[in-house]
Amino acid sequence: MRHCGSHLHVSGRSQYVDDVPAPKGMLHAVVFGSPVAHGKLLSLDLEAAKAVEGVKAIVTYESIPGSKMIGALALDEPLFADKEVLFQGHPIALVIADSHAAATKGAKTCSAEIEELSPVTCPREAFAKGLLLQETRVFEKGDVDSIWSECETIVAGKIDLAGQEHLYLETNRARVIPQEDGQMKVYSSTQSPSAVQKHVAGVLGLPMHKVEVDVKRLGGGFGGKEDQATHWACMAAVGAALLKAPVQIVLSRPDDMRMTGKRHPYKQDFKIGLDSAGKILAYEVHHFQNSGAYMDLSGPVLERTVLHSTNAYAIPNVRIRAAACRTNLPSNTAYRGFGGPQGMFPLEVAIEQAAAKMGVSPDWIQSRNLISDGYVFQYGQEMEGCNMQRTWDEAVEHFDVKGIKARIAAFNKENLMVKKGFAMMPVCFGISFTKTFLNQGSSLVHVYTDGSVSVTTGGIEMGQGISSNMIAIASRVFGIPHAWINSNSTNTRRIANISPSAASATSDLNGNATIIACNEILSGMLKIAGEHLGCSPEALKIVNGVVQRDGAPTELTWQQLVLKTYFARVQLMAHGFYSPPDLHYDGVKGFGKPFHYYTFGTCLIETTVDCLRGTYTIDASRIVHDLGRTIIPTVDRGQIEGGLAQGLGWVTLEELSFSDSGRLTSHALSTYKAPDADFMPDVMELKLLENVDNPGGPLGSKAVGEPPFMYGTAAYFAIRRAIEAYTPLIEDEVRCPMTPERVLLSLYPNFK
Ligand code: MOS
Repeated sequence: MRHCGSHLHVSGRSQYVDDVPAPKGMLHAVVFGSPVAHGKLLSLDLEAAKAVEGVKAIVTYESIPGSKMIGALALDEPLFADKEVLFQGHPIALVIADSHAAATKGAKTCSAEIEELSPVTCPREAFAKGLLLQETRVFEKGDVDSIWSECETIVAGKIDLAGQEHLYLETNRARVIPQEDGQMKVYSSTQSPSAVQKHVAGVLGLPMHKVEVDVKRLGGGFGGKEDQATHWACMAAVGAALLKAPVQIVLSRPDDMRMTGKRHPYKQDFKIGLDSAGKILAYEVHHFQNSGAYMDLSGPVLERTVLHSTNAYAIPNVRIRAAACRTNLPSNTAYRGFGGPQGMFPLEVAIEQAAAKMGVSPDWIQSRNLISDGYVFQYGQEMEGCNMQRTWDEAVEHFDVKGIKARIAAFNKENLMVKKGFAMMPVCFGISFTKTFLNQGSSLVHVYTDGSVSVTTGGIEMGQGISSNMIAIASRVFGIPHAWINSNSTNTRRIANISPSAASATSDLNGNATIIACNEILSGMLKIAGEHLGCSPEALKIVNGVVQRDGAPTELTWQQLVLKTYFARVQLMAHGFYSPPDLHYDGVKGFGKPFHYYTFGTCLIETTVDCLRGTYTIDASRIVHDLGRTIIPTVDRGQIEGGLAQGLGWVTLEELSFSDSGRLTSHALSTYKAPDADFMPDVMELKLLENVDNPGGPLGSKAVGEPPFMYGTAAYFAIRRAIEAYTPLIEDEVRCPMTPERVLLSLYPNFK
């Protein structure tokens, strides 16, 4: 089966929020954001902007009719800045005009009197000043302090780990259309329609049933629209309510890059201790999360950082400190992996440095510490169904790691100015929202009298293929072709209280709900079929649209059976609800069973570094991945390759640059470089683990969205191995990403 939107995407006919023809009288809005990163907002001068031709109104904090505050966890964020501005681009006002050009001109004409305060952009500095969004927490297992004396090798160090721009193709946008009786219809590019519904209702002072949010598809989300699509929808809603007219906001790329949060940058301290056999005895890490101005999702992101700090390794003594440091940057937010990659990174650095000290290769240490069944994480969950070792062993064998290493060693011996490097990355990623209550999914299935089927779930199509997965699942449960099934927009009037499409869990939760709904309809239909054919429903099955009895086709088709069911007044629509059992997690204690299951995989990356120029290529990625029983192999492959690409970008090319005054200087694609097709490895091999099942996923499948992101991390270390083949790495702090500039400086440390 192909991705169900592919024919529309490749021909440019897929509709996004602003592709639907505009309703009559629709107005356009542009945000006026703070020119400085930190200051007291003394006064606003909006007169000149109001005089711009076409400008209809300017909305500020004062204009908000209902709650002036929004926020994912707590209402800690004013929709517009009121008395203070906390980051450059902090929304202060919304200029609404009859054209986008007029609104843009108006926004440029706004000015604010701001008493500047010195901004803090470094989380270590924020930590030292006590600027924290929540209490700093320590999570422990075993006894780290008493074990150091038993360690043969101990290394410690500091890390500066950068953030990452989401760079979804479609920037944030929303269209709000007033309806009769004070109701609002909202089209939003959001991963979380119920969050948009709740906060639009909140800022307008309406009950939620007066607000309808509809989401057809997103041009990418990656976490960037899990919480931060809400702001723009709320702003447009305030404008629409005030002017009683449709209002649309479409952020320009530079505005989107300056005004929205990103993957959290972290600063980290680590210490690791090993015995002479390469067993990790103790690991300590302190995460200083650069959270940005408001809480947003920083707490939960930091939680996943903590949960994944030991990644795929069994470590008896662990101490993890986690601080959410408040800085004068846009609130950093969800981004594929949700803090997991930042949790895993320092342990790989620690292993790399321990390996250097011991005179072994990092994969020698990695392979000696992989988790297996029975291992108990520091948060109390016991590992079950572990395929970590299997993916590692298959990667080593199938891709001939020995041969790769020999080939690279020979190449490096022969070449003076070009060096190759190689690294491996094992990944163990927990599947479920760590906020346990979010683990619920809903599906509404309609079978119409012509036999065609409509599926609506809480899942948001953001390119990842959830719609295709839902069609494939309904098709398999009903026993009818894909073409008879349509997957609809996500709508808060068809599905209530939708969890965000996030945490890799969307197909799991909504797919299982779809199975439940389809089975409810099917059991009624088969009962009617049994009456018609004079047999027990248990003997019947539908295959490719035809009813089979004991495995042999009957005369009865799906369409005929649907009509018979309808005339018998038996339901042809059902709502399915699913929540995975057995989850419990105490976020305060950091203890419980947060994950329904884990996904596993191992990635190998080969790189070549030009030691004169500092440029490099990623030559090969070779992955063994555990997908359980994949629903649609091409859709899953797309997720694995896309995740890899984003992970590669994070550790290599993508460099967010902020000036000391807190100004984002990489605010456009001229200054922010992301991987393109050409950057991707020429050799991309993927081997799916065979004969695996997953009782936790729909039809035995496994979640796929986030785990492959972490494979890209191997490129960081592969590049460093190549550098080390040329010259030793000298550094007081390990810095990521490894941009070509940084590679060049590492190759020639004396020329700094
Ligand atoms: Mo995703 S980073 O869980 O929105």
